[in-house]
Amino acid sequence: MKILTLGAGGFIGAHLCKRLLVEKHVVVAVDTHHDKIREHLQDPGLVFIPADIRDPSFDLERHVREADLVIDLVAYANPSMYVKMPLEVFRLNFLENLRIAESCVKHGRRLLQFSSSEVYGKTAASFLGDQLTAPDDPALATFSEDESPFILGPVGRHRWIYACAKQLLERVLHAYGLEDRLDYTIVRPFNFIGPKIDYLPSEHGGIPRVFSFFMDALLRGTPMQLVDGGRHRRSYTHIDDAVECIYRIVENRDGTCSREIFNVGSDQNEVSIRELAEQMRAIYAEHYLAPDQSLPPLVEVSAEAFYGPGYEDSDRRIPDIRKARERLKWNPTIGTKEMLERTMSYYVANEDADTPPQTMASSSS
Ligand code: NAD
Ligand code: UGA
Repeated sequence: MKILTLGAGGFIGAHLCKRLLVEKHVVVAVDTHHDKIREHLQDPGLVFIPADIRDPSFDLERHVREADLVIDLVAYANPSMYVKMPLEVFRLNFLENLRIAESCVKHGRRLLQFSSSEVYGKTAASFLGDQLTAPDDPALATFSEDESPFILGPVGRHRWIYACAKQLLERVLHAYGLEDRLDYTIVRPFNFIGPKIDYLPSEHGGIPRVFSFFMDALLRGTPMQLVDGGRHRRSYTHIDDAVECIYRIVENRDGTCSREIFNVGSDQNEVSIRELAEQMRAIYAEHYLAPDQSLPPLVEVSAEAFYGPGYEDSDRRIPDIRKARERLKWNPTIGTKEMLERTMSYYVANEDADTPPQTMASSSS
């Protein structure tokens, strides 16, 4: 297939491109930068187009028309950005993504749309409490694609604009599927971790997702900051497990993924953020700490101090992956310890090989 991959130069895009090339697809990769796919630039199967999809000179219509499948990964994907520049998040993550979807409708092309586990928001149990407290029963925090409701915070907590933009996009795709028979599949990733995730903040400033922040702190000896004591919980998924699932969705055997939503995540790797920090510290101490070095301090910080006003957290989210197991015969196999060991060893070996955050100011061409 000829696969138009928008946002191909990001974390998931880089790993997915590698797999698509191994499977001998032709990948038309669009991004503002190619740092994370540099190793594939000489591959005859890859056509890299350096472009900002918002640039009027970028011919989205032609690229969609010429593709057999469109994969849309373009988004701002870091919570700090949702808090700092909510309008930009809405414009890119909804308006620009809508343009891509409408082009697929117009040209009758299949669309694989990256959404997010964030659409589920908070647990109902947390909403009923007087502060964000995760329920102890995992069943109350397990979200299924076709049954669970979405509970987002109030408008003044503008962190939720990302989840809301992703949710609205999903609803529009569903409606296009009903009215215009758009052939789409929505992927809801649950916190992937692996080499090339984000960037190290001490080099570039900004606030990346938590793994990169903790990794940076371990490498530089700066404090590891636990937002609200690190009590919130996430289900982590190794990028190799994720790509295996996503590739089966790309294949779409017997049309089993058409007009469907898939949670892509591991239901066995749930940890609190404090536990994540402690696991990373233990691995670092075992493999990398020099005899004269000590681990950096672990400090608690309020969400307001860390992100600024407008932040609110998701307390707990575990993916229900029965659909992916049954239809795709997929099962994630990599546990948190192996996931962290593999990813941390990459960062220790490639301390300087990261990419700065992309914003409108830095990415427009
Ligand atoms: P990422 O930030 O690494 O990748 C996004 C890519 O899009 C970047 O390379 C960026 O340069 C590119 N991009 C942004 N604006 C662009 C523009 N105007 N023109 C061209 N390219 C542009 O993020 P990721 O982790 O790879 O996430 C990919 C998708 O998956 C996003 O839609 C994200 O919301 C979703 N997602 C990811 C995770 C995860 O665990 N990584 C979880 C939930 C959802
Ligand atoms: C992220 C982003 O919204 C998206 O990439 C994606 O949609 C979603 O994950 C997902 O993977 O499904 P989140 O999990 O909140 O959301 O992202 P992180 O920034 O990695 O934060 C995780 C937790 O760690 C939060 O509780 C946050 O407050 C905390 N944190 C973050 C810290 O305690 N310390 C830090 O230094 C950074």
